[in-house]
Amino acid sequence: MIVLDKVRKTFDDGRTWAVDGISLTVSEGETLVLLGSSGCGKTTTLKMVNRLIEPSGGTIRVDGRDIMQENPIALRRAIGYVFQGIGLLPHLTVAENVAVVLRLTGRPASERRDRARMLLETVDLPPDLYAAQYPDQLSGGQKQRVGVARALAADPDYLLMDEPFGALDALTRDRLQQELLDLKRRIRKTIIFVTHDIFEALALADRIAVMHNGRIEQTGAPGELLKRPETDFVRNLFGRPAAQLKQFEARAA
Ligand SMILES: Nc1ncnc2c1ncn2[C@@H]1O[C@H](COP(=O)(O)OP(=O)(O)O)[C@@H](O)[C@H]1O
Ligand SMILES: [Mg+2]
Repeated sequence: MIVLDKVRKTFDDGRTWAVDGISLTVSEGETLVLLGSSGCGKTTTLKMVNRLIEPSGGTIRVDGRDIMQENPIALRRAIGYVFQGIGLLPHLTVAENVAVVLRLTGRPASERRDRARMLLETVDLPPDLYAAQYPDQLSGGQKQRVGVARALAADPDYLLMDEPFGALDALTRDRLQQELLDLKRRIRKTIIFVTHDIFEALALADRIAVMHNGRIEQTGAPGELLKRPETDFVRNLFGRPAAQLKQFEARAA
């Protein structure tokens, strides 16, 4: 379980709060989607959970433990992170990219190789074809799968995913969303997934936290947000043509 309590972040140069007191609980096995437009504080929030960014105030607990009392390296090993824009290392092969965390933790080469191959299978990249390739040789969608495999390498209970499918064409994005849902059924993970895409949020979320100007407007299951918006912002956000939202209402019913 991940619990954020009145978490805030201001940057040194900034007079304004990038994250302005957000409270949020992500339960075991849940996919919580942080939904909001560019600049509203999604990445900052995600990065504070594994201390890539230090909070300016409030507390964050993972499995009941205050992250500020944890060793940041151990914390990052326990939490897989898929970066906005992927960030594969171009001079390493696909398999080496996947296993990079395992190398840092000193696991033997044979174990790293076996694990990388298994993970490439998991994300539907046959290792015989892809393990020895370099990131440049892959399509955007394939790179994104490598990013997901890498985040799973140390078998973390938690995954933080920052707009992982944002740069992909619509068809590839739909496919990877489906694969993520399949993956969730097979391996039980607790996920915070960041997106600015309302339909992606509705497709993937157990619950959605709508962010705006560094705050959370409302948190709830997709059906709750559609049927009972609590603020004008949420009402407008979900106030799309009924036909577009129909399938999600059906799902939420
Ligand atoms: N390192 C930084 N220094 C100063 N301001 C920052 C820094 N990182 C982010 N910000 C600001 O904080 C706000 C939230 O940014 P971010 O969390 O990246 O938003 P999002 O991921 O929702 O697009 C933005 O106004 C952004 O300009
Ligand atoms: Mg961002």
